[in-house]
Amino acid sequence: EKGRYDHYMRKEISEQPTALAQTVEGRIDDTDDSGRQIDSGNDSDGNVADGSGDINAGSNGANSEKNNPEGVSLEACPPGTFTDVSAIQFVACGTSYHAALYGQQLLARRGVAAQTFRAGEYAMAPAPVDDDTLVIGVTQSGETADTLESLRRAAERGARTLALTNVVGSTAARECDDAMFIRAGPEIGVAATKTFSSQVATLALLAERIAGDVADAGGEDDQLLAELSTLPDAVQRVLDETRAMEVVDRYRGMDSYFFIGRGVAHPVACEGALKFKEITYEHAEGFAAGQLKHGPLALVTPNTPVFAVFTGRHTEKTLSNVREVQARGAPVIAVVSETNHEVIDTADATLTIPDAHPDIAAVLANVQLQLVAYHVADHLDRPIDKPRNLAKSVTVE
Ligand code: M6R
Repeated sequence: EKGRYDHYMRKEISEQPTALAQTVEGRIDDTDDSGRQIDSGNDSDGNVADGSGDINAGSNGANSEKNNPEGVSLEACPPGTFTDVSAIQFVACGTSYHAALYGQQLLARRGVAAQTFRAGEYAMAPAPVDDDTLVIGVTQSGETADTLESLRRAAERGARTLALTNVVGSTAARECDDAMFIRAGPEIGVAATKTFSSQVATLALLAERIAGDVADAGGEDDQLLAELSTLPDAVQRVLDETRAMEVVDRYRGMDSYFFIGRGVAHPVACEGALKFKEITYEHAEGFAAGQLKHGPLALVTPNTPVFAVFTGRHTEKTLSNVREVQARGAPVIAVVSETNHEVIDTADATLTIPDAHPDIAAVLANVQLQLVAYHVADHLDRPIDKPRNLAKSVTVE
């Protein structure tokens, strides 16, 4: 039921505080003497604390003899589960691919070797694996054909597989050695919104867990874990205070819309552009900000607004990219912390987010970009919940 909303997408954007609270519930334990740790998410009987009867969480029946002989989800696995992992490969499509890019960066920062592949390509030409390689399929539905095929190709060559998914009982959850559920609740709109946020939060938890297990990974990031607990409130603030509608009103009918960012802001920029093109039918592209000079800058004119995503890392470098596009006449809309006055003063318009850990700021910035896409599509009267030519779940390769 859409309730008071015109579209499921808008409802699902608004549900993100609840979805994120479900995602992290029971998975962060701040009572441990050794500091914040990722909890199993289970009560003493081994039941996952899902906080709600109707969310997708819990034991999945993942059934590998190899790694999961008891047929339980990752959440029931004890610390040390990833001690033998030497490398991680993510396989995913679309929005889930962008979430995977975020997870890769969190792991790489802790010294854990991680790569991200578009599942359609990986299924054709899989990267080398051995039995210390963990291949993680990031898939909201758990039914995307390319992702399933990639996971099967990895498993048949001896890799361990893990499904990071929203749907208990999905093919990915059943076929992989382990499963970790994002607990976002059902998503009806074809455009993935709350599931991206919950994927990213789950990947942050998983990255911390892996960093705690793998030797020399540098342990857990206590501040990130603490801020994951407050993420639902921060997202609510963005929803309550956003000026996305008023800002996009100033930039209608342009030739193209570009989105740039560095570090974790790069997958957010790509996701912002994907959402924008998917539901508005306007041309949009997301770039790593440093790539602009290597080609895309040729497209920049006063008719190509540039959304620049700032998370608190690499600020000066992204600001120099902002100045480059402004010098070509492009208006810049910065998505940035409300306390970053240098960026706010430089940009032509701003969508502000609460001050936060950079990896948390990425989620907050993405919420602003979801709202940007939604308001433009709504103004153009697009069929937002069912964009032309697209399906919620892509079950053919
Ligand atoms: O169910 P999945 O996460 O595997 O789906 C992958 C993509 O098809 C999906 O994220 C798609 O890109 C979304 N419609 C984007 O909003």
